[in-house]
Amino acid sequence: MTTTDLPADARTVVAVSERLVLSRPQEGDAEAMFAIHGDPETNRYNPHGPQRDLAAAREQLAGFVADWPRDGVGYCMVATRAEPEVVIGVAGLFLHSLDGEPVFNLYYRFRPSAWGKGYAAEACRAAMAEALPRFPGVPVTALIRADNLPSRRLAERLGLMPDPDGRVDQEDRLIHRMA
Ligand SMILES: CC(C)(COP(=O)(O)OP(=O)(O)OC[C@H]1O[C@@H](n2cnc3c(N)ncnc32)[C@H](O)[C@@H]1OP(=O)(O)O)[C@@H](O)C(=O)NCCC(=O)NCCS
Repeated sequence: MTTTDLPADARTVVAVSERLVLSRPQEGDAEAMFAIHGDPETNRYNPHGPQRDLAAAREQLAGFVADWPRDGVGYCMVATRAEPEVVIGVAGLFLHSLDGEPVFNLYYRFRPSAWGKGYAAEACRAAMAEALPRFPGVPVTALIRADNLPSRRLAERLGLMPDPDGRVDQEDRLIHRMA
């Protein structure tokens, strides 16, 4: 599938991989956002807990939508090529400043029903392959709680290693960085 295979009113596709389609978030994604971020299972290691309600999902989504026109990069809604209308996760890169350095934050959160299939890794690789050549020299980082082993395993599989001195951010998350 390529962007030209899609109908004119379809979402804006960012990248296509073997099994997945990554697209820009859009206003209509609020329910899907809430299904993913409001699920206690996807927030087991998040001290703030799951998202409260649809209004909170809308607010977070508005931020994700706004990132794209401002930065030319951002988080993506992920679906399978087999069911492109069903969002199974959110993954991608957010351009921000970490201790004064411009870096990408790599993000991934998937519906539990989509875990264990390699989708998160595939989506992250596709997002990085699309964005990184456009932003040469910007390092990829990820902020992960020490006890979030599934997330740390994924980060390491993608080539992001924890800071050798155990450096953490203000929320006590280990700073991982692509070697
Ligand atoms: C972090 C998270 C995205 C990881 O999901 P995941 O599905 O385990 O990650 P991957 O995409 O790398 O899939 C790897 C798993 O799929 C399996 N798999 C099955 N088919 C596969 C395939 N075709 N290709 C690759 N892996 C495959 C692998 O064996 C591996 O299983 P294992 O971890 O039990 O060994 C998921 O746990 C999640 O959404 N957690 C909640 C949100 C969160 O904590 N986000 C991070 C905040 S810092």
